[in-house]
Amino acid sequence: MNTIRIAIDGPSGAGKSTLARAAAGALGCLYVDTGAIYRTVGYYARSRGLDLKDGEAVAAVLPEVSVEMTYGEDGLQHMLLNGEDVTEAIRLPEISLCASAVSAHPGVRAFLLEMQRKLAREHSVIMDGRDIGTVVLPDAEVKIFLTASPEARARRRCLELERRGTPQPYEEVLREIEERDWNDTHRPVAPLRQAEDAVLLDTTALDFQESEAALLAIIRERTGGA
Ligand code: DC
Repeated sequence: MNTIRIAIDGPSGAGKSTLARAAAGALGCLYVDTGAIYRTVGYYARSRGLDLKDGEAVAAVLPEVSVEMTYGEDGLQHMLLNGEDVTEAIRLPEISLCASAVSAHPGVRAFLLEMQRKLAREHSVIMDGRDIGTVVLPDAEVKIFLTASPEARARRRCLELERRGTPQPYEEVLREIEERDWNDTHRPVAPLRQAEDAVLLDTTALDFQESEAALLAIIRERTGGA
């Protein structure tokens, strides 16, 4: 059976992971959250007390880092850092900017590239990130650029942080989103941008159900209803 590759890129907080996970469930694909692997490297670099903007310093510790992605009995993606499950730890708000900083370094991106491609060779995947349609899986059957206004994304992120018991003021969340947008779109290597053959889905005015329906409609149209 041929595998199918669905690439979803977009800025932070656009709902990529929630929507991609739901769509993967509906389509029977593996959901791969690539942000989690950058978070894992960011988490490690931070725990070593490195200057995360120093590409050489970060690249120098990569040989000490083993990043593995496993799928638990709960069906959820778990991240292992040198054998330790860091799935929860990498979600702490302070790790977001660490991930964004380390992800700008070419050495880090090269280190993680093959791991992502291997997953897509072995499984039908819905993979979300920043450069999946442009760099990781340029031949993906379906490419979607999922976005929403910074304000809508900040409001959603605030609700999510509240639910997790780690609330943060709206202004702070909006500032972080804008900072990450800037970092992720202005780095020289694999910047966040819409692939030429990607379909744009803007969820600013859509709720979750509407966004999911729109996403599935694009996927079905592109895969001939598969
Ligand atoms: O999707 P996320 O918020 O968990 O991603 C964290 C950071 O990782 C994000 O700010 C940019 C980086 N990232 C990346 O550069 N390329 C990817 N494919 C996924 C994430």
